[in-house]
Amino acid sequence: MTLPKVFVARQIFQEALDKLATVSNVEVWEHESPPSKKILLEKVANVDGILSLLTDSIDRELMESAPNLRAISQIAVGYENIDVKEATLRGIPVGYTPDVLNGTTADMTFALMMAASRKLIDGVYAVRDGRWKTWHPLHFLGQDIYGSTLGIIGMGRIGMEMAKRARGFDMNIIYYDVNRRTQDEEETYNMSHMPLDTVLQESDFVSIHVNLTPETYHFISDRELTLMKPTAVLVNAARGPVVDPEALYKALTTEQIMAAALDVTEPEPIPHNHPLVNLNNCIIVPHIASASTTTRLRMSTMAVENLMAGLAGIRMPNCVNPEVYTK
Ligand code: GLV
Repeated sequence: MTLPKVFVARQIFQEALDKLATVSNVEVWEHESPPSKKILLEKVANVDGILSLLTDSIDRELMESAPNLRAISQIAVGYENIDVKEATLRGIPVGYTPDVLNGTTADMTFALMMAASRKLIDGVYAVRDGRWKTWHPLHFLGQDIYGSTLGIIGMGRIGMEMAKRARGFDMNIIYYDVNRRTQDEEETYNMSHMPLDTVLQESDFVSIHVNLTPETYHFISDRELTLMKPTAVLVNAARGPVVDPEALYKALTTEQIMAAALDVTEPEPIPHNHPLVNLNNCIIVPHIASASTTTRLRMSTMAVENLMAGLAGIRMPNCVNPEVYTK
């Protein structure tokens, strides 16, 4: 029996690949950088399945070049790189990896928030660079996290994990989302739903957890940053383009807000000479919020299980477009 062919667009955990290899012929893109569009199109020409990353554009052109394609499995919770509508039209299920990364991503978001507000990175470099000469009552002054107000924009699965953590820090939690949480959830987490502008005006920390859609592109721009407190910290571990980088640069250099901490940027990777990178009040890490060993292993396993189900013609355990099964 000939096994189905799959293209795995980057190295993932070997145990997950071994599992996939029991049911398919696997080709793995071993390079660190993503395959170019041209190479990707060549690689998928004869495949039955693709395991993709956020950096791979899985668009109509790709689906046209892959006439045998019957399963797309993304190793990420986000999937804005995939033309899901097109996949659905073609009856191709698209898998993703929700939930397993919620806690890990919220941990990192908290770490960013704390690092930016307590000048952690600047402190580390002061020691490394020999700038630390004395303990001084007025040096490295930041903002308290405990007892402050956390504004969560986008109260989805990761937003809820932020709320859980914030309770432990005795934070006042306010949030904005187009979908309000239940009264029960609001009471349990002691959080209040408010209009966007109120969240921006009243928060000491604003943490963004919305998906990237045409509606959320540059959702945080000049107007929104102007509403924030001069002592506020903006944290983005959602998607880079949700924050307008030019507006953020202006807000940080004019001290309209105190600091920003970004796991994601526009563009990605952000060039090392980008104006935001060398600002002392801006911390940027390379899109690593889900990067714990446990979580990335879970994501790898989940992506492989979705792909295997897709290849076997059974329902993917985590499918973005389950309507393909009801046609
Ligand atoms: C990472 O950003 C993801 O969407 O999983």
